[in-house]
Amino acid sequence: MRRMLVTGGAGFIGANFVHDTVRRDPDVELTVLDKLTYAGNRRNLDPVSERITFVHGDICDADLVDDLVRGIDLVVHFAAESHVDNSLNDPSPFIQTNIVGTFTLLEAVRRHEKRFHHISTDEVFGDLPLDSEDQFTERTPYDPSSPYSASKASSDMLVRAWVRSYGVAATLSNCANNYGPYQHVEKLIPRQITNILVGDKPKLYGTGENVREWTHVDDHNDAVHRIIADGRIGETYLIGSGDERSNRQIVEKILTLMDLPADDYLLVDDRPGHDLRYSNDSTKLRTELGWTPKYPDFDTALAATIDWYRTNPTWWKPQKTPTEASYKLLGR
Ligand code: NAD
Ligand code: DAU
Repeated sequence: MRRMLVTGGAGFIGANFVHDTVRRDPDVELTVLDKLTYAGNRRNLDPVSERITFVHGDICDADLVDDLVRGIDLVVHFAAESHVDNSLNDPSPFIQTNIVGTFTLLEAVRRHEKRFHHISTDEVFGDLPLDSEDQFTERTPYDPSSPYSASKASSDMLVRAWVRSYGVAATLSNCANNYGPYQHVEKLIPRQITNILVGDKPKLYGTGENVREWTHVDDHNDAVHRIIADGRIGETYLIGSGDERSNRQIVEKILTLMDLPADDYLLVDDRPGHDLRYSNDSTKLRTELGWTPKYPDFDTALAATIDWYRTNPTWWKPQKTPTEASYKLLGR
């Protein structure tokens, strides 16, 4: 599996994956295919630019994808439209990239008989009650709430069908919310850190009681490496640290770590259809593949993430004004 094609490698998780892969394997031949949408940034790959081949292109471009897949051993598929609020505003790029794009890749790996790993999300399962200890498992029925999660659920279904009907050698993983460096400022944690850095208040949707399970991006990518190496073909693995927090707790923690009063935030309009709680049972990944999070101390890892945004304003400032302008139109 030395020749790897990483789709979406200029985005948040994909770029961290590329950095990590280059660190792990000095002999890996890495090609990144990325459309450089508003969420992709070529600079994310600067630290490894000597070690990779970058292709600026669309996963829906069947000829380009066919050419690239022919010359590699494995596709790790991160590319997606990834933000729920954007999907509520305009679902069409989600249908195109997340469904048609995944279909295009699957057809290429089918033709050329290549290994495929599909990156997905716990949002395909819908949500869990706030006041329960229920968890998603690999057997939980799909019940997506938003256009984003419906498009990711569709892409998962395509992968499963291509395994069963065509014998494509694919694995799937569904991870909980990630945090860490290079995350776009549209997402909860970087939005609030950068709001504070520009002198605005953090903004909580609704009551702030919704719960997410937070996994450091390097722990997500470590799980992906384990699945690529030893995961069983056709299987799905859930990834999650077990660290659940309400959005209000997250914002209070960020404010405290940035030396501000913990209640110095605003409540804003809620997200339509807002999922209440996510929680992944990652027992299968832990017992079968020996995965365990290396960032169990959320406060320390969050403080390091805050430091990253503090020391990299030239990275996030160009995103900030357009992102906040879009939120303003939504009342959020
Ligand atoms: P991101 O939005 O930061 O990055 C997505 C990348 O895909 C960008 O570089 C973008 O330019 C590229 N891209 C978009 N459309 C493309 C196309 N048509 N062709 C080629 N490239 C295209 O996303 P992320 O947060 O890094 O998420 C990566 C993957 O992980 C997604 O599949 C997402 O569903 C999944 N995921 C994300 C999280 C999370 O918390 N962020 C959690 C679980 C799963
Ligand atoms: O669970 C995995 C998913 O996590 C991934 O599949 C998605 O790609 C990723 O974007 C993320 O989805 P969420 O919708 O959970 O993430 P987001 O950062 O947008 O929001 C996290 C929570 O915080 C959610 O309950 C909405 C809330 N929120 C978000 C923003 C941006 C706020 O309260 N205020 C905000 O300003």
